[in-house]
Amino acid sequence: PKINFVLPDGSQQTIDAAVGQSIMEAATANLVKGIVADCGGGCSCATCHVYVDPEWVAKLTPADDVEQSMLEGAIDPNERSRLSCQLRMSDALDGIVVHVPAAQF
Ligand code: FES
Repeated sequence: PKINFVLPDGSQQTIDAAVGQSIMEAATANLVKGIVADCGGGCSCATCHVYVDPEWVAKLTPADDVEQSMLEGAIDPNERSRLSCQLRMSDALDGIVVHVPAAQF
């Protein structure tokens, strides 16, 4: 399944992910800028923070309590904020659009 990253300058980067791979893992493997993932997917750094495109928010499993509290500590969170290490790709998410926060550059 494909993931479309929208960077703060409006440019887009589309990458191919494997089913079961997290959006963070796919992003770091493809050197998507702004997805730092300091903790390596442990849900404890919030440097993999993304804003999910409004169209896709409802297709995701809601954030659990740990993710929710980490998001409160992320830079500039909003109601579409998620930690990309907690989002696992599936065929249903093919073509998902996520925005990389400007604050992560
Ligand atoms: Fe650290 Fe996602 S990689 S919280």
